[in-house]
Amino acid sequence: MTKKIILDCDPGHDDAIAMLLAFGNPEIELLAVTTVVGNQTLAKVTRNALSVARIANMQGIPFAAGSPRPLIREVEVAETIHGESGLDGPTLPEPDPRLTLDPRHAVNVIIDTIMAQPPKTVTLVPTAGLTNIALAARLEPRIVDRVKEVVLMGGGYHVGNWSAVAEFNIKIDPEAAHIVFNETWPLTMVGLDLTHQALATPEVVKRIKAIGTQPAHFVVELLDFFGQMYKQAQGFDAPPVHDPCAVAYVIDPSIMTVQKVPVNIELTGTLTLGMTVADFRAPAPADCHTQVAVKLDHHKFWDLIVDALERIGEVKL
Ligand code: BDR
Ligand code: CA
Repeated sequence: MTKKIILDCDPGHDDAIAMLLAFGNPEIELLAVTTVVGNQTLAKVTRNALSVARIANMQGIPFAAGSPRPLIREVEVAETIHGESGLDGPTLPEPDPRLTLDPRHAVNVIIDTIMAQPPKTVTLVPTAGLTNIALAARLEPRIVDRVKEVVLMGGGYHVGNWSAVAEFNIKIDPEAAHIVFNETWPLTMVGLDLTHQALATPEVVKRIKAIGTQPAHFVVELLDFFGQMYKQAQGFDAPPVHDPCAVAYVIDPSIMTVQKVPVNIELTGTLTLGMTVADFRAPAPADCHTQVAVKLDHHKFWDLIVDALERIGEVKL
């Protein structure tokens, strides 16, 4: 049986690769792609999502734009990592004229999609700030019991990237994250501890280059720019490709080890705003509904990406 997901994202180099993995993997049924302000403005990340859709010829999937700003905070984008367009590096094609944006707000698309599917069949995969997801949970609380689970990229239990202890997706809208982590749905946090193991090493880039198609070439160009920015901004020799890790966990949970621990979001700390505070004291309480990803099988992860790109095959623009 396929795994139904809604990808809520802010493309974003690694979001783009998450889209391609979700679309190209035969075990995933991509029910919708929704966008939210994050790596760049809502207008830019939405346009980027549609351009990526064109690159892989993603027909028949609803795309919808969501929140243009966090719940409370000012907009803060990640230009130092993703550039001015949010997807700098490759030349982006104009969005596919046959693929138009769904007129509904992303929050309504998320709710309608979950409510239209049988209970416990849809996994929410947020790879951006959690504004849309928090709003959806507030607007239609029944989705909390109805989803199968939430598997998100964000946070980190002992490392930050947007401050010493906070990760970007959580830091830009900590109040939204607080709502999402405190709902009762099963939630897997695929945070920096895990995604910093998903490095696009030169060997990985070589494998993707060898596929020889335009979508694969696009990914190589993405990784090239992303790599330079990560080197410059955070001293990485190879860039950590965060967002597809969350999709990969849905495809094959054996790709990572996870640990059940309570996680909550710091909202008032002067130095720790947006920190995902994980309580590793054993035993985890019986009603603990959160778990954190700990260790990644690097080889299996990149096998999945390569396989998805091979299945997408050649798409000429
Ligand atoms: C996360 O922040 C964004 O810049 C990336 O797309 C990823 O979702 C990593 O901290
Ligand atoms: Ca992202």
